[in-house]
Amino acid sequence: MKPVVSQQSSALTGSIRVPGDKSISHRALMFGAMAVGETKVTGLLEGEDVLCTAAAMRSLGASVEQCDDGTWVIKGRGVGGFSEPTGVLDMGNSGTAARLLMGVLATQSFTTFMTGDASLCSRPMERVMKPLRPIGVSFVSRENGRMPIAIQGTSAPMPISYELPVASAQVKSAVMLAGLNAPGKTTVIEPNPSRDHTEKMLQHFGAEVEVEETDKGGRVITLTGQPELVARDVIVPTDPSSAAFPVVAALITPGSKITVEAVGMNPLRTGLFATLKEMGGKITEENVRIDAGEEVADLVVEYSELTGVTVPASRAPSMIDEYPVLAVAASFAKGTTHMEGLEELRVKESDRLAVVVESLKACGVDVTEGEDFMIVNATGEAALGGGEIKSRLDHRIAMSFIVFGLASQKPVTIDDGSPIDTSFPGFIDLMNGLGAKIS
Ligand code: S3P
Repeated sequence: MKPVVSQQSSALTGSIRVPGDKSISHRALMFGAMAVGETKVTGLLEGEDVLCTAAAMRSLGASVEQCDDGTWVIKGRGVGGFSEPTGVLDMGNSGTAARLLMGVLATQSFTTFMTGDASLCSRPMERVMKPLRPIGVSFVSRENGRMPIAIQGTSAPMPISYELPVASAQVKSAVMLAGLNAPGKTTVIEPNPSRDHTEKMLQHFGAEVEVEETDKGGRVITLTGQPELVARDVIVPTDPSSAAFPVVAALITPGSKITVEAVGMNPLRTGLFATLKEMGGKITEENVRIDAGEEVADLVVEYSELTGVTVPASRAPSMIDEYPVLAVAASFAKGTTHMEGLEELRVKESDRLAVVVESLKACGVDVTEGEDFMIVNATGEAALGGGEIKSRLDHRIAMSFIVFGLASQKPVTIDDGSPIDTSFPGFIDLMNGLGAKIS
């Protein structure tokens, strides 16, 4: 346990760069390990979640090494070329690593055992197992599809077509990754588009992936199986989900003006920035460019008087990880913020809907929890603070309430800041470098 105290700070100023994108980093390691040749990755997130993926790739027979210049080099095994690991794969806190790997391992002809920390072992895996079973894999899990699990991969995979019942990039990716090693075409239909890093990066590695928009705003993704993935260099943009924390900190801390450099601006990831702008947040995108197929921009953010807004359910997939920190921004805004379509928040690293509500209440905020919505009422004055927050193995809860404490009247204490290292190593030092008072 690493307790953290966050106190009202004077203006935040300066220029920072947050670490690499977590979603893209996991995929770069996995796809590099399935490609033929040597993949070089720059800007990889060296957080605990991604390091679990690196270790899993090594256990499966790929070579994954970090060079002196910080670049990561992966020597791949080809699609379907992994070897049976001797031990149990430990995916730590990472749902993305576990679920994407379940797809990969579904079509390797051996049995893999996989586990994770207490948070990961409480998360639903049936949503991935259900579409994968018709491909030919079988699973043994704890009750209700909870980890640890055993994955008995098939040597004769069948391609499938699957319509996602929830917008989930992890489920979509798991099906596509299983489809990579199946003959013929694998199709995933998503009702509401989720992050498309798997589609983009598989194309980058030479796979044939077609994406069609449906009349109803959804997508049909078709992958041609058994391509030869060819090693490619990957430049990982910085993570918009990590940039979210300094961005909201600057918006709510009076007098602040900061620049967050080279933020990944994939349109399926930027719902938070759109919402904050609607709330009156002064966020300007400068130097917009494309880096290795992904949009990137420098964000200039100034303290702003925010007002409450309604955030529609249709925007949830593009900001699914950002609701805890949006709820913090809403606590400093004038008026009511309605956040709708939040049912997926209940199955993240913690039940984020319940934990955000309990933590906001502990900090004196007027908040209402519904089954799939949250309403925050605030006056536009500095929120009270003073809460003692339990981070519950959830990095984004820890960082959100550290941000809260920078602008609230009383300090906020977090019982354990150690989960931050899963996605944002160096967070506290980076924020203190801007003038934050976090100890
Ligand atoms: C991710 C997808 C999202 C997100 C997670 C990363 C990914 O999860 O919450 O942090 O990299 O595919 P879901 O697929 O469960 O929505």
